[in-house]
Amino acid sequence: MATHLFTNIGQLTTNDPALGGGILGVAEKAAMVVEDGVVAWVGSAAAAPAADLRTDVAGAAVIPGFVDSHAHPVFAGDRANEFAARMAGESYSAGGIRSTVAATRAATDAQLEANLLRLKRELIASGVTTFEAKSGYGLTVADEARALEIAARHTAETTFLGAHVVAPEFADAGKADAYVALVKGEMLSAAAAHAKWIDVFCDRGAFDVDQAREILGAGIAAGLAPRIHANQLTRTGAVELAVELDCASADHCTHLTEADIAALAGSNTVATLLPGAEFSTRSTYPDARRLLAAGATVAIATDCNPGSSYTTNMPFCIAVAVRDMHFTPAEALWAATAGGAKALRRTDVGHLGVGARADFAILEAPSFIHLAYRPGVPLIKQTFIGGVAA
Ligand code: NIG
Ligand code: FE
Repeated sequence: MATHLFTNIGQLTTNDPALGGGILGVAEKAAMVVEDGVVAWVGSAAAAPAADLRTDVAGAAVIPGFVDSHAHPVFAGDRANEFAARMAGESYSAGGIRSTVAATRAATDAQLEANLLRLKRELIASGVTTFEAKSGYGLTVADEARALEIAARHTAETTFLGAHVVAPEFADAGKADAYVALVKGEMLSAAAAHAKWIDVFCDRGAFDVDQAREILGAGIAAGLAPRIHANQLTRTGAVELAVELDCASADHCTHLTEADIAALAGSNTVATLLPGAEFSTRSTYPDARRLLAAGATVAIATDCNPGSSYTTNMPFCIAVAVRDMHFTPAEALWAATAGGAKALRRTDVGHLGVGARADFAILEAPSFIHLAYRPGVPLIKQTFIGGVAA
């Protein structure tokens, strides 16, 4: 297989601490060789070996591709009016999900896939090379299964979220338990073949901790790995549950106690923060500094969905994380790459050490700091997945 040398890299972030520059493993005046879709060599441009192909990036910065570990890209319609109402003072509630459920059920498979493909192209254009895709806007056995079947054509990271909200058919008082039984039973059976993960929106207006424990437990028994929407709207106890079940990730973490932070820091559960959600719902940001100071592993993801965070743009999320959540630019880049990979329990992506999948982005900038320093400017010049321009 041909070798491809990328050289004259002004600043190469590898997330391989062995290369120096702290956890980001930053090398200057660097080069990288890709072979068979993986990183075969990294070092100084002056010492680069010969290769079959040669790309001179003219002093640009190169970063690992972003790993978007939390996205809801299988849906139809939008909720622009709901957003406008929020900006005029309304508050966000889980109930808005049901309007996307109606639009999603009414869409054809082709419409759902075309929308997913549009969002996937946006993600790639913003430097994302791995993304998660949740179901959760079908909420019937057939609609959840088809969402996952469509998602699985585009990503390996598929997540069954039948427990997003109680389906409209079960919305009357006293029927939620019947819906939980459906999710754990027939819906899970139909979804499991197309899903790697199981998730529950454990929050006010959605599912409580006991229901979440039951549903995640059923998913684990069916061979899926757990992750959870935790404490977005209020403190529910979902973080303790995440740690109890060894969830790969507890997502949102907007409302945390000291005990939650200590539990996350002492666990294998990544705290995935979603700056786009607080931005677009005008909510208070989670206390990222306390999580980082405690030693928790922190990821940043887009949460792309039509209700609370309709963005596919990871550099935007990084800029918000830096400006409003007080990440340093380096911490934010790590969280959007290596952190996302840890939230998906992947070791092959999120870094550019030798042996990693050659997923990276060439920036229209000399340094990754520009991702936050130049908010809203399209700085992703080119995205490569498995060494191939995407
Ligand atoms: O992660 N919180 C639950 N799910 C989404 C929002 C879904 C919606 O409002 O449609 C989220 O923010
Ligand atoms: Fe979400």
